[in-house]
Amino acid sequence: MSSAVLVARGLSKDFTSGGQRVPVLSGLSLCVRPGESLAVVGRSGSGKSTLLNLLCGLQAPKEGLITVAGESFRRPRKSSERSDDDARWAELRRRSIGVVFQEANLMPALSLVDNVRLRAHLAGHATGGERGWLERLGVGAEADRYPDQVSGGQAQRAALAMVFAMAPALILADEPTGSLDRHTADAVADCLFAMQGDSGCALVLATHDSELAARCDHLLDLSALDPAGTE
Ligand SMILES: Nc1ncnc2c1ncn2[C@@H]1O[C@H](COP(=O)(O)OP(=O)(O)OP(=O)(O)O)[C@@H](O)[C@H]1O
Ligand SMILES: [Mg+2]
Repeated sequence: MSSAVLVARGLSKDFTSGGQRVPVLSGLSLCVRPGESLAVVGRSGSGKSTLLNLLCGLQAPKEGLITVAGESFRRPRKSSERSDDDARWAELRRRSIGVVFQEANLMPALSLVDNVRLRAHLAGHATGGERGWLERLGVGAEADRYPDQVSGGQAQRAALAMVFAMAPALILADEPTGSLDRHTADAVADCLFAMQGDSGCALVLATHDSELAARCDHLLDLSALDPAGTE
C-alpha cells in the first residue's frame, strides 16, 4: 500500500475564550493515503474548520505530530527540531496542499482563466493548460469572465480548477458546496470526486452534508470525540 500523504497523531487544540481554556480537539489521529478521501463531520463548533487549519499550518496545535507530503511538524517542539515551520508550511501550501473554502476565493481583478494560470504558476507548473482545466470543470465558456460575472457554482468550479491545476498531493475542502443549491452542489461534488480520482490526490472534506460525506472513503465524526466531555 502506498505511503500516506497526510498523517496526524495526537492532535490537540485549545482556544481561550473569556479567560477560560476551551478544548476543541483532543488526541486526534488520522491518516489519508493517495487517492483516498476522508469526510470530517460533526455539529457546528465541533472543530472541523479548526482541524483543516491545523492540517495546512494556518494554526498550530497545542500538541501533536502532522506529516504532509513527507514534511513533519511537531508540537511542542523539541529544542533539536527545525524551527522553520512557517516557511515549510508556506511552501507546502504553494505546491502540495490545495485549499477550497465554502465561498470560492478567487482574485476579483483577474478573469477565471487568469486565476487558474496564476495558481499553476505559483505552484511551479508551466502555464498553458488553464482553459483545459476550466473546460473539464464545465466552465470553459466562462473562462474570460471575472468572478463577479459568474454564478456561485461557476466560481466554485473555477476554484476547483485552480486547485487541480496546481497538482496538489492533498486537497483540504471546507464546506466546498455549502453555499450552493442541492443540484449545483451535486454537480460540483461530481467534478471534485471525478478529478480527485483521476489525479490520485488525497482529499479531506469538512461538511455538514451527509450525502456528500457518504461519497468519501472514510468518515471522521468530531461530535463523537467531544474533547470537553459535554456529550
Ligand atoms: N480564533 C478562535 N478563538 C476562539 N475560539 C475559536 C477560534 N476559532 C474557533 N473557535 C472555537 O472553536 C470551536 C470550533 O470552531 P470551528 O470553526 O472549527 O467549528 P466547525 O466545526 O468548523 O463549525 P461550523 O460547522 O459552524 O463551521 C468553536 O467553539 C469556535 O467558537
Ligand atoms: Mg467550519
